[in-house]
Amino acid sequence: MKKIISLSIVFLLIVSCGKDLPMSTFDTYGPIAEEQAFIFSIIFWAGMVVLVAVEAAIIYVYFKYRRRKNSNRKAAQFHGNTKLEILWTILPVVFLAIVSVPALSAIWNFATMPENPAVVVNVKGHQYWFEFQYPDLHVVTANELHIPVGKQVLINLDSNNVLHSFWIPKIAGKTDIIPNQTNQMWIQADHTGLYYGQCAEFCGESHALMRFRVIVDTDEDFAAWIDHQKTEAYVPNDPLEKEGYTIFMSPKAGCGGCHMIHGSKKAKGRIGPNLTHVGSRQHLAAGIMENTQDNLRQWIKDPGKIKPGNIMASQGAVYMDPNKALTDSEVIALASYLQSLK
Ligand code: CUA
Repeated sequence: MKKIISLSIVFLLIVSCGKDLPMSTFDTYGPIAEEQAFIFSIIFWAGMVVLVAVEAAIIYVYFKYRRRKNSNRKAAQFHGNTKLEILWTILPVVFLAIVSVPALSAIWNFATMPENPAVVVNVKGHQYWFEFQYPDLHVVTANELHIPVGKQVLINLDSNNVLHSFWIPKIAGKTDIIPNQTNQMWIQADHTGLYYGQCAEFCGESHALMRFRVIVDTDEDFAAWIDHQKTEAYVPNDPLEKEGYTIFMSPKAGCGGCHMIHGSKKAKGRIGPNLTHVGSRQHLAAGIMENTQDNLRQWIKDPGKIKPGNIMASQGAVYMDPNKALTDSEVIALASYLQSLK
């Protein structure tokens, strides 16, 4: 049994180091992640040299000085060895001095914010999702961060609740999100594509479900995305979508108290994610499931089941008051309306 447990731990450790996994820090796509991986690798390989040398010395001593049959040899008794002690004090000092050069230069590099970032994003950590505001571009979205390829992006991190941490393993190491303190970081992605992000600081029972995506666009795609995000929300024509719209805006459901739908007078809330273009997002509930009709219905029906401890489940009137609970047909209409918000 013990063998099986230790083998599975070794297996898990090995597979978690795979290069082509979505959250591998070894598979870097930006200058910051690259520099961090480089520092890791020099420390790792120097550590391996020490490991092999020490283990080899232990094995050598073990065989050379082992007790032999019919031998009365006594172990040598001595105290200390000045030469060795000086050596193993100086060697680590020299090594640390060498490592401190790239490490300090990297710390300096990460802490020096770009003077002319291409984009500024204010990231707000919520329990349990990420809000992305583009203050200069007048766009607010959630859980899917779009950035242009090859450009420096300045990130301001803030939280109005608990600690979170912003982490896109392939693009940049994590920076904590701390209430009442704006931390900054900058990121840059060198290839277009989809990257995975994750909250990396325990923030409550659904911490592991607080994920996000980074979509690295070409300049044209980014500009088109921004232009589209700025537009007012689609106003439905289809009967089912219209029904969902009416329920969404009704005082009974009260969705608009927490959610913003740009262009609507009744949905001006800022507690939950901005839903103006929620139908254009690829995922729901902070990157934990695909944005499909079926998933959206399940989410609206019982968000607390999918993401325990979230505010919608604990404070939304339709979930707290059995008299206001949504019927199945209302859920279907709501999902249909929300997905029309491309
Ligand atoms: Cu937010 Cu963990």
